Amino acid sequence: MEVVIAPAGELARLAAGAVEELLRARPEAVLGLATGSSPLAVYDELARRHKEGLSFARARAFMLDEYVGLPADHPERYRNVIKKEIASRVDFAPGAVQGPDGLAADLPAACAAYEAAIADAGGVDLQILGIGTDGHIAFNEPGSSLASRTRIKTLTRQTREDNARFFGGSVDDVPRHCLTQGLATIMSARHLVLLASGRAKAEAVHQLVEGPVSAMWPATIMQLHPHATVLVDDAAASRLQLADYYRQTYADKPDWQGL
Ligand code: F6R
Repeated sequence: MEVVIAPAGELARLAAGAVEELLRARPEAVLGLATGSSPLAVYDELARRHKEGLSFARARAFMLDEYVGLPADHPERYRNVIKKEIASRVDFAPGAVQGPDGLAADLPAACAAYEAAIADAGGVDLQILGIGTDGHIAFNEPGSSLASRTRIKTLTRQTREDNARFFGGSVDDVPRHCLTQGLATIMSARHLVLLASGRAKAEAVHQLVEGPVSAMWPATIMQLHPHATVLVDDAAASRLQLADYYRQTYADKPDWQGL
């Protein structure tokens, strides 16, 4: 696991740079997209690079998760969020960005179909991730099976409170259920790039990088991934015991070595 501690703007440029490098090498690459605040600056940077010629026309993308039951036109439905924040700002082909169907009549069947679609696409090459204050990635809340695949989950009160800011501050308006890629689904992606900023994420980041692997902090499964990159600002890094070592390692990194 590589840990990079840097100002937020630089983190977004590093993540967007990894996406650009991948797309230039493999224009038909499969991207994994997260919602929430953490990737927004990355999406801004990708939209900027698209204007400068970076093309997504042959790429495909899979979203991490979706709320269950939000109406099709709800602005916080993750399909609509992803469309607004990135898909509509670059040149993905129609239908190239997929997400779990939180309005399906048969939700377990929709989850199985989503797993099949990811597998049919050859798996995700680069997965962008955020982390919840309770250590979730996608919506794999504490206690999630480390071997889980896409399924229905119940959101914790903490996550619903954290996300109430997107629903006019009303926790009651945040759905209670979601469909989410499982931890094993995420672990199947070839490169994981997680972004975290702010002191509220410091304990989750400490557990992710330095804690024991445990379903209580689901993100800790990333310690077992062969290519995981954790991009954090100073505040999110403030509880890391080996922060000085991570800083030194990044400062000493050869120029030719990408993320
Ligand atoms: C969203 C998702 C979540 C968020 C996490 C952090 O698709 O998968 O795991 O990444 O809740 O959210 P922010 O970035 O809003 O702090």
